[in-house]
Amino acid sequence: MSRHNDIEHVSSTSAPNLGRRRFLKTAGGAAAVSGLLASTGFPAAEAAVASAAGMTPFDSARDESLWGAAQQAFSMNRSLINLDNAWTCPSPRVVTEAVVRYIWNQEEVPAQQWINDFEDRVETVRISLGRQLDCDPQELAIVRNATEALKTVLYGVPLKAGDEVLTTNHDYSSLVSVIRHREIRDGIKLVRAEVPAPAESMDQLVSAFEEAITPRTKLILVSHIAYLTGQIFPVKRICEMAHQRDIEVVVDAAHSFAHLDYTMSDLQGDYFGTSLHKWMLAPKGTGLLYIPKDKIEKINPLMSGPSRRRGRSIRKYESVGTQSMAPMLAIGEAITFHRAIGGKVKEERMRYLKLYWAERLNKLSNIQLYTSLDPEMSCGFTTVGIRGVHPEALRDYLWEQHYIQTARIDRGEDLQGLRTSPNLYTTLPELDYFCEVMEEVAANGMPEPYRSMTFERDF
Ligand SMILES: Cc1ncc(COP(=O)(O)O)c(C=O)c1O
Repeated sequence: MSRHNDIEHVSSTSAPNLGRRRFLKTAGGAAAVSGLLASTGFPAAEAAVASAAGMTPFDSARDESLWGAAQQAFSMNRSLINLDNAWTCPSPRVVTEAVVRYIWNQEEVPAQQWINDFEDRVETVRISLGRQLDCDPQELAIVRNATEALKTVLYGVPLKAGDEVLTTNHDYSSLVSVIRHREIRDGIKLVRAEVPAPAESMDQLVSAFEEAITPRTKLILVSHIAYLTGQIFPVKRICEMAHQRDIEVVVDAAHSFAHLDYTMSDLQGDYFGTSLHKWMLAPKGTGLLYIPKDKIEKINPLMSGPSRRRGRSIRKYESVGTQSMAPMLAIGEAITFHRAIGGKVKEERMRYLKLYWAERLNKLSNIQLYTSLDPEMSCGFTTVGIRGVHPEALRDYLWEQHYIQTARIDRGEDLQGLRTSPNLYTTLPELDYFCEVMEEVAANGMPEPYRSMTFERDF
């Protein structure tokens, strides 16, 4: 079992010891499964999506004939159902193959490769990322993850004693811990607006921020998509409201980049950080930091670098010493894969996969969903609970008895469930199987020994 902020995931070392029950039956039989395993790879995904030309993203998302090839572009183990993609997730095989290839290139004469080749080639990746977000690539630093990106800003923004930083009870705890640290170090104050789950409307979310602002508020940290629930926040409205009051906004886009289809100007944030190993499907250990040119000078990097990396260059945020360039370079393959599917088509597919299982389970009287299914309120994932069933026992039961991986969320009575996050490679029969198991538990409760398990609260 591993803990990652407030979320618990089952590790592969705690492997299930009981067999799968009905997977082959519900998945359409062994032939269907072996058909999926007979991969044709990424070019087929391109061809399939190209054949969708002329269809709306909404219709493409619902046409199963288009998605088989994209599912096979990943090297999956179909004896497991991975509905825990929101922390990080499998990359398409073209991405993993590129990482391996670049590692071998790197091993030839590592020092040469670094100085004469890789550092320059990373610039091509930077340009592609700039194109993706429609912003100046010289405002984008390629970092290791969203944590590094966003902590750079939260530690680097000049604040003085008495200044307030506003965020919510649903923002990422590791980032909130930076604000707590600065309370001790710099005498600033953390203010947390309470947002309900599920939220009723976008207006309610804007109001939660607006009501918590005081004359001392200097900075807002907002998740574009909340990690606990999948709730989408109306970032542009929050930024516009904040800017009218001279407050800067840090957008935590860890879950929204390459999940929702947008460019930087659709958000209007002052700073932006995201992981690339989440929905962009890039190699693990890649992330992105956006700081506009006029703010680069005032935001200190977490680690100071040599002179050419100081001052006004965005590269000053990349000065972390020697690291493998292979994951960074292979971001390029992930972007190519993303663009081949199409940002809007991907968003609609992710939303459809969520609706597929969530609408079915939502018909049951004891199911609790923690986001609205309204398209503007959530996209590819949400958190689902069964009233009266402990989420940890349910999470363990799903994994140990059915090889279905989800992530447990437990914030007390008001937010207890399983964060359920399919991905492009997820098939509808896999979601059917998940629904059948959940329906059985909702109807009959948990079997022993899971029914009698007790858990200590650790939040
Ligand atoms: C909302 C949010 N912000 C930031 C992060 C940090 O991302 P990373 O682990 O890539 O640093 C996460 C991780 O899950 C997250 O959910």
